[in-house]
Amino acid sequence: MVHTHLDIGIQSRMNRIINPKDNRVVMLAVDHPYFQGPTTGLRNMSKTISTLLPFCDCLMTTRGAVRNNIAAEDIGSKPIMLRVSGGNSVLFDELSDEKITVTMKEAIRMDASGVAVSVYIGSVNQQQTILNLTGMINEAESYGIPVLAVTAVGKNMARDLRYLGLASRICQDAGARIIKTYYCEEFSRLVDAVSPTPVVVAGGKYSSPPDALRMAYDSVEAGAVGVDFGRNIFQDANPVGMIKAINAIVHENHTTTEAMDIYNEYLPGAVKLD
Ligand code: R5P
Repeated sequence: MVHTHLDIGIQSRMNRIINPKDNRVVMLAVDHPYFQGPTTGLRNMSKTISTLLPFCDCLMTTRGAVRNNIAAEDIGSKPIMLRVSGGNSVLFDELSDEKITVTMKEAIRMDASGVAVSVYIGSVNQQQTILNLTGMINEAESYGIPVLAVTAVGKNMARDLRYLGLASRICQDAGARIIKTYYCEEFSRLVDAVSPTPVVVAGGKYSSPPDALRMAYDSVEAGAVGVDFGRNIFQDANPVGMIKAINAIVHENHTTTEAMDIYNEYLPGAVKLD
């Protein structure tokens, strides 16, 4: 495809985030403390990042973590998907009250390859969070920076095709370049509904290696370009084995059983993250 000069910056950064050779990505989500503070597996965030960075394609994280928790020699080694929305905390039941927390200038200064904004469709702050997204897209696009939209789910929201499909389609219509959402039944219908916008799948709460690997497998089978898992990797007893197994599924089309074999290879002596 021939690109006009207007979208070269976007395409260049998209190619850093999603491998253009196979159109797949293993993104590692380590942005959780922005609203939940100390998080199991991220208490020593520098160690978590240095342990897992070699095995991810892109790191989704926060300004504070980029400043404080990426070793100097690792800066620039992997593209950063910088979370730029926040302002909430777990101390309030209503998590949807987010605003933009990082300026575009800061994102550029930090060499972000993309910026991430959450939307809370169906929440009391629906409009505010959609306008967070559209405002950031208006600005980021003018600098050639892709925006990833996260379809955050409130405590009482069903994670089904109807809801996630609605939220994802709204994100695409807003102009998001990548959509991050949750896996659900008939997931291929969601992927088709927002095609050609790439979809990555969040892992959610820690489950178990077979369940998390099955979710990764089902996601890419349904057409997702990959995963943006956090807790199912860094809270596992064998985080390196887990991310290697996910890579095998996402980039090498391994089955869940084959990926479990890879996971088990790394289990003896595995170092758990704090
Ligand atoms: C949620 O909004 C956060 O941005 C996390 O990055 C996201 O939930 C993915 O992490 P996990 O796989 O732990 O759910």
